[in-house]
Amino acid sequence: MKQINIALLGFGTVGTGVYKLLLENSIDIEHREGLSICVKRILVRDIQKAARLQLADRSLFTLKIEDILDDPSISVVVECMGGVEPSRTYILSALSAKKSVVTANKEVISKHWHTFEQQARDSGAGLYIEATVGGGIPLLRTLTDSLQANNITRLMGIINGTTNFILTRMSEKGMSFEEALLEAQSRGYAEADPASDIEGFDATYKLSILSSLAFHTHIPVDAVYREGISSLSTSDFEAARQLGYEIKLLAIGKKAPGALVEVRVHPTMLPKTHPLAAIRGSYNAVFITGNAVGDIMLYGKGAGQLPTASSVVSDIIYACHNEGRHRHNTFRNIPDMDKDTHLVTDWESIYCIRTKVNDKPGVLSLISGVFAKHNVSLKSVLQFAQQDNSEGGQLAWITFVTHKAREKAVQSALREIDLLECTLEVESLIRVEE
Ligand SMILES: NC(=O)c1ccc[n+]([C@@H]2O[C@H](COP(=O)([O-])OP(=O)(O)OC[C@H]3O[C@@H](n4cnc5c(N)ncnc54)[C@H](OP(=O)(O)O)[C@@H]3O)[C@@H](O)[C@H]2O)c1
Repeated sequence: MKQINIALLGFGTVGTGVYKLLLENSIDIEHREGLSICVKRILVRDIQKAARLQLADRSLFTLKIEDILDDPSISVVVECMGGVEPSRTYILSALSAKKSVVTANKEVISKHWHTFEQQARDSGAGLYIEATVGGGIPLLRTLTDSLQANNITRLMGIINGTTNFILTRMSEKGMSFEEALLEAQSRGYAEADPASDIEGFDATYKLSILSSLAFHTHIPVDAVYREGISSLSTSDFEAARQLGYEIKLLAIGKKAPGALVEVRVHPTMLPKTHPLAAIRGSYNAVFITGNAVGDIMLYGKGAGQLPTASSVVSDIIYACHNEGRHRHNTFRNIPDMDKDTHLVTDWESIYCIRTKVNDKPGVLSLISGVFAKHNVSLKSVLQFAQQDNSEGGQLAWITFVTHKAREKAVQSALREIDLLECTLEVESLIRVEE
């Protein structure tokens, strides 16, 4: 039986989950893996607070990172604090002290992955990050250890449970964004400060990690195009319903010819028949296309104490088994990729555009003419509502669905349409995946 001492940094939702799971399944892990994993120290900020949980012996808690870094008997450090600092410093220090690191912290990994990977290579320690994307869903190892024979051409996922819960309520109950967010907060699905989730930052951290592994190209988080869900309205869902679509916050990564990649996070309309359209509530799912395997979809709980602990403990087991022979990721273009040569910014998509106009004869042909001028061809045009305006005329809401068009062409067309006298507002643009 191999004896391994580990340390936890942070004893919140994930940290306590890891501790509980290691205790609960210790006999099975010993039996199946030949490993006896002992939590030797737990770094906290407040020992009284941690001891009040009555989960772990008080003697395990420490306020000093040195008690962990300077202890040669500890070989794996499990970072569950979150945020960038001091997590970044502690991870680097642990790796340079030849201790393997397991982390669930997508923010610090998406921002400093390359530095950590370099340090891990130099010292021979391991870096394990399964829980950073998709909580309990075994996503990253599926890419690196099960799909390595493939060239991954596309991935598309719902990788933020908070936003998927909100969008499900807006779609199914007709709630406004504000009402759905309040419900998500009252049920514990959204933080008091929900910005990271609803503005799409959390999904960009995860997509940068996922797509870096899928496309073997280091993709910095600030290279990911981002739009959140806070500007979606009940009218967008009404339009989606009439068109046979669901609206999801999708993380999309695509490989384009010439080693180019396309990475974006934004609200997306999907046909109701698409497997991702059926993912409800706080669940996550990722749809991956490989040139040999075809399409696969991984689905499950993308967050939560025990689902996340499931991935973290799996990483701890890998870190123990791989001692002395850890694998490191190989990216083609580390460290600072040239965004212009590796990223597609003028991608192709279908677009659903809602406009509010003064309804006069010729309005439709005027707007259609602007689209045509910019090479944007229209698939369908729908008029959803009419209402009297203050000048005795009529207002109309017209929705245009395009055929595949270039992002920059659509944006140029919309700037011109916005300036037309008949246009009161271009109310929304939502990209469509089919
Ligand atoms: N929760 C999930 O479902 C989930 C899923 C996937 C990934 N993650 C990731 O896992 C990480 C942890 O998330 P969480 O939900 O467990 O957060 P959490 O419940 O807020 O726990 C974080 C813990 O770390 C402690 N901590 C923070 N800074 C510290 C420091 N300098 N020294 C010692 N302890 C410190 C906090 O102490 P205080 O109590 O004193 O604040 C808190 O107990 C984050 O990166 C998150 O993104 C979470």
